[in-house]
Amino acid sequence: MELFEAILSRRSVRRYAPDPIPPEVAGRLLEAATWAPSGGNIQPWQFVVTSDPGQIEELKSVSPGMFGRPRLVVACCVDRRRAEERSGPGGLHIATLDVAMATQNLLLAAHGLGLGACAILSFHPAAVQELLGCPGWVVPTLLVAAGYPEAETPRPSRRPLEEVTHHGAWGRRETPGERGAGS
Ligand SMILES: Cc1cc2nc3c(=O)[nH]c(=O)nc-3n(C[C@H](O)[C@H](O)[C@H](O)COP(=O)(O)O)c2cc1C
Repeated sequence: MELFEAILSRRSVRRYAPDPIPPEVAGRLLEAATWAPSGGNIQPWQFVVTSDPGQIEELKSVSPGMFGRPRLVVACCVDRRRAEERSGPGGLHIATLDVAMATQNLLLAAHGLGLGACAILSFHPAAVQELLGCPGWVVPTLLVAAGYPEAETPRPSRRPLEEVTHHGAWGRRETPGERGAGS
């Protein structure tokens, strides 16, 4: 799939077919995640992966934002110890951004491999941490639920580009080319 097409057509998928995700496909998702950029290339992430239906049910019970029956869940976690050791006091903030970047890579890779996936923030971090046996310094930041999509997902809207773009300074709506054209 062409990159731009992949970016535009990725959707948050919340209804999954019963087909399991083969381990090699799951491996590729994680590989993609680890190739995300990170501040200073510190890579302060850890990924805890499960395809165990019982464990996924338990995760669902502490994740109000998790819908459907995902076949795979990846907890994308900040490794606080690594982040703080290598980046100092600001490390946690940078690491959270890094994990978000890795999560987006994972979502796009899932889409490219024909899977449907959804990032989930609505969960109880301490409960997820305990269910997955994470040590105290490994903090789940986002969960990704994935599976083969059961149905097509409608495309949500986006704010128009003009509303969110400023050229050179806040509030300047026209592009430099347009400015020059009238003079
Ligand atoms: C930080 C973050 C947290 C999110 N949390 C949830 C969640 O808890 N549950 C959920 O169903 N979707 C969640 N989503 C998915 C968004 O609802 C979704 O990205 C948005 O509606 C746009 O749809 P799209 O991804 O199909 O373009 C989250 C997305 C992000 C980036």
